[in-house]
Amino acid sequence: MRMVDLIAKKRDGFALSKEEIEYMIDQYTNDLIPDYQMSAMAMALYFQDMTTDERIHLTQAMVASGDEIDLSEIDGIKVDKHSTGGVGDTTTLILAPLVAAVDVPVAKMSGRGLGHTGGTIDKLESIDGFQVEIDGKVFNELVNKNKIAVIGQSGNLAPADKKLYALRDVTGTVNSIPLIASSIMSKKIASGADAIVLDVKTGSGAFMKDLTGARKLAEAMVGIGNGAGRRTMAVISDMSQPLGYAVGNALEVKEAIATLKGEGPSDLTELCLALGSQMVYLAKKADTIEQAREKLVEVIENGQAIEKFKTFIAAQGGDASIVDQPANLPTASYQIDVKAKETGYISEIVADEIGVAASMLGAGRMTKDSEIDLAVGIVLKKKVGDYVEAGDTIAIAHSNQTEIKAVIEKTQMSYQIQKEEVTPDPLIHDVITE
Ligand code: URA
Ligand code: CA
Repeated sequence: MRMVDLIAKKRDGFALSKEEIEYMIDQYTNDLIPDYQMSAMAMALYFQDMTTDERIHLTQAMVASGDEIDLSEIDGIKVDKHSTGGVGDTTTLILAPLVAAVDVPVAKMSGRGLGHTGGTIDKLESIDGFQVEIDGKVFNELVNKNKIAVIGQSGNLAPADKKLYALRDVTGTVNSIPLIASSIMSKKIASGADAIVLDVKTGSGAFMKDLTGARKLAEAMVGIGNGAGRRTMAVISDMSQPLGYAVGNALEVKEAIATLKGEGPSDLTELCLALGSQMVYLAKKADTIEQAREKLVEVIENGQAIEKFKTFIAAQGGDASIVDQPANLPTASYQIDVKAKETGYISEIVADEIGVAASMLGAGRMTKDSEIDLAVGIVLKKKVGDYVEAGDTIAIAHSNQTEIKAVIEKTQMSYQIQKEEVTPDPLIHDVITE
């Protein structure tokens, strides 16, 4: 086989076979196909698209390029959740104990990563004593006992994707549905889940700006997952504003605690119920999505969800008193009001900009080695559809510095205010089933 022939074949619009895709990915991972040939292939794929079979084969070849996590020691159907990325996305912190409370095993591997705020691991580390560097065997035992544990990223998952993603980044080929879908799914499948629930975001703050693109991406990932033998579903959710109110690590932990007690923001609660019911259904703990949802509402109302969160924190060495006394979490020295600059209705809160504001306060990591300030962030006081008058408080900056003019301006700029009344977009645009 020669790579040059495969490039020409794809350029001319033909589908590549399983063997051809496996050859290409294997040779590329082992540096036996040069970047310039893979670049040409990525561009051909960008223009010619891939069939569902090709997408499945590409994903499986990327999975096979590295380690695959073995969760077979854990009882039951392991369901993982993935979000295509949101600002202040606290859903994992809520969903994990929520579905574990109805006996769905949650074996979560999570990253720190770069971003406006930390990853799930950073948020959990705002809880005094919480350990994420646990032994694999201990991890399995914890999930079997409590139905929930979270561990830091380990292993060399889908190195072919890592290499290809870096190449796509510099060759104008990131924004391709088959390439994005196979990239995300390869990492999820390598992480060992039996079933996968996807939260595909759409709107100004999302990777996919419009609903058509988001639906195509969701359908592509659902097609790959099911084709690869992992039952997969997706929710398409709105990102024309941050989810919930809190953006920042400890602030989001507080918001997660409130939500697990049934006292959280309505949008965050609704999204967790939508994603959670798919997880419960795929784990075969309910016969229908509706029944799954009822079970989740029940464990929020009867306190089992928040009890599960306590058990989980304590089992990993964390101070579970924060559940009843959230003030024991890291707290910033100053709370500074951000005021509306205009009078009118809020039409949009550009999530990315709020994320940047939080990260300017120290909530996020600029480089791999930078330190996060777990206490700081932005708490929104007004959301899309609300009426405000100039000078009203729209958000509060939780800061450890007093000179935060740039942060305040950034937050004000992210609020779009107009004279006409605004009807907020629905939170859930669509649900894609198997
Ligand atoms: N996220 C990924 O992991 N891969 C992509 O290709 C795009 C976003
Ligand atoms: Ca939030």
